[in-house]
Amino acid sequence: MAESGETAKDRYDGALFIPSGGPVWHWRALLRQWYWAGFKAELASLLNQWQPPSEHLLLLGPSAGWCLPSSFLSRFRTIDAVDIDPLAPALFRFNHGVALARSGTRLHFHKRNVFREFDPILKSHPNHAILFSNILGQHLFHDENETRARATIESVKGKLMARHWASFHDRLSGFYPKSTPLPTARQSHIAFEGAALATELGLSGEWLDHLTANVLPEGTLRHLIAWPLLADWLHSVEFGVVKPR
Ligand SMILES: C[S@@+](CC[C@H](N)C(=O)[O-])C[C@H]1O[C@@H](n2cnc3c(N)ncnc32)[C@H](O)[C@@H]1O
Repeated sequence: MAESGETAKDRYDGALFIPSGGPVWHWRALLRQWYWAGFKAELASLLNQWQPPSEHLLLLGPSAGWCLPSSFLSRFRTIDAVDIDPLAPALFRFNHGVALARSGTRLHFHKRNVFREFDPILKSHPNHAILFSNILGQHLFHDENETRARATIESVKGKLMARHWASFHDRLSGFYPKSTPLPTARQSHIAFEGAALATELGLSGEWLDHLTANVLPEGTLRHLIAWPLLADWLHSVEFGVVKPR
């Protein structure tokens, strides 16, 4: 993982109000569940097709799993979830506890910083399949140095050469006129280029590039799905599955 510079301690570590999670995020997620149904269904379909050969899942940045299907999580015998948000464990159990109890899935939460402790976290979960659960595209909110943030995000793939992993992450986000139909899902083996993608998606005004264009190794099939975070604010989320190389 690239050096996180002089701010060796992420200033949001363990804090209640963080830009990529916390009470505001949870409240919004609770209220927007109905509007996110299409996104969640597409994500569920992609996750359910992912069949890594492991009964153990390392789940990175899951928050309360507002967008994750219980049916996917229940397939695993154990789940180790890593998130800095102190509210995540209780709310995750609120969302998935019953399903996980039924399937006998054991859930362990770890309040650790994924980016600062990536190597030890990987080392202590050697047989786990790994899912980045919309965390990689959030790193720009935790590191004000864009070059360093991008390097950190892109270094992930080099460290996971021998692992089964998948990720869904924000690619772009921006203002989206309310009454416009959402863009349809699309796939490509080539990374979607930011500016062209924003135009194609109809993101107007200033859109935010989440620095994740090259998270997935070259040649990975990339699925793009639309996530209407707010009534007029759209995220374009990329999903991909990677096997050991
Ligand atoms: C957008 S939320 C994930 C939403 C999740 N996919 C869901 O279904 O609810 C991003 C999560 O990543 C966590 N996060 C961000 N940076 C992190 C880091 N460096 N280490 C651990 N967790 C982090 C945040 O606390 C937050 O819960």
